Amino acid sequence: MKRAADIIKHRLADRQQAGNYRTLKPENSLIDFCSNDYLGFARSPRLKQMIAGEIAAHPESHNGSAGSRLLAGNLNYTEQLEASIAAYHDCEAGLLFNSGYDANIGLFSSLPQRGDTIILDELAHASIIDGARLSNANRYTFKHNDLQSLEDKLKAAKGTIYIGIESIYSMDGDAPPLAAILDLADSYGAAVIVDEAHAIGLYKNGLVQQLGLHYRVFARVITFGKAMGCHGAIVLGSDDLRNYLINFARSFIYTTAASFHQVASIQSAYQFLGGADEAISALKNNIAQFKSNIIKHPDYPLIESNSAIQCIVLKSNDKAKQIATALQQAGIDVRPILSPTVQQGSERIRICLHAYNTAAEITLLTDTINHYLNEQ
Ligand SMILES: Cc1ncc(COP(=O)(O)O)c(C=O)c1O
Repeated sequence: MKRAADIIKHRLADRQQAGNYRTLKPENSLIDFCSNDYLGFARSPRLKQMIAGEIAAHPESHNGSAGSRLLAGNLNYTEQLEASIAAYHDCEAGLLFNSGYDANIGLFSSLPQRGDTIILDELAHASIIDGARLSNANRYTFKHNDLQSLEDKLKAAKGTIYIGIESIYSMDGDAPPLAAILDLADSYGAAVIVDEAHAIGLYKNGLVQQLGLHYRVFARVITFGKAMGCHGAIVLGSDDLRNYLINFARSFIYTTAASFHQVASIQSAYQFLGGADEAISALKNNIAQFKSNIIKHPDYPLIESNSAIQCIVLKSNDKAKQIATALQQAGIDVRPILSPTVQQGSERIRICLHAYNTAAEITLLTDTINHYLNEQ
């Protein structure tokens, strides 16, 4: 029998040899083209003040929730916030989770039962995949954004069918053909769940709602750790869905509820979003500037995306790391995304654009990338 300590040593050594060993990097003062703070909420002194004001306005609030929502951790404040966020998103009900990871785990593990089928886009986020794995349902993936591939899987599906997609894909930045997916889902009676983690903010209340398609989805997952600048997530759907999750979603039931501070931050972030039109236009301008400056390379494609996430595929861990290092040496914080986080052969740099990036910073970024790729 191998000793546990030896197994972890060997597995770490294998990773190191494969060039995809993960390490935590210290904070840096490089130009931020890496964080998910698309609208600058996480760094906003004004939002910080609003959160502090909200906490000060509730002197009775505790530091920690001291229990799960079903025991001592439920607050009227949280329930009111859930109702007001649901109303903002033109939806019957919402249930807060401590993170987007928890929300997807809870949703995808508790809804589909043995004999049912979950069909996920092959690029669905790890939290969606992990949730589906925890269910007892049959699981399929369809080719990214490919309607024919989705229909093939729908034809083979048994029981109640759940389709899991993102409205902006986290590692590619592109959007699915939402209306066509919903049409296809309708014809097979499938329920569609859309993760809006990277759409909230740029598309203000989310892409699904902006397209007027929110009445047709079974559930939406909105996360607060990206453009909303704080932490947590909400699942939006019917009253019955909310009650179902309270009863069956283990990542909701068996965890300490968010602290008042976290919930007050979400409340303040929604208030702040109401006045964020200028930041949203600045982000849109920056996306346009990036796309017009970048010179497309035949061997290292820029993935087609209109969102704040722009990726150039370098096709190997080594090359992705090399260009990230070149960018870091030029003062720019861009990280390589390596396999196995993405499929082998699709290793890339993932550039996140923000409202607060200046035109000069974007020019420095695109000039450095264009120069590097031209040398290859
Ligand atoms: C598409 C998507 N869903 C869910 C999550 C998880 O959200 P959180 O960071 O709040 O756990 C992420 C975060 O990376 C994500 O990109």
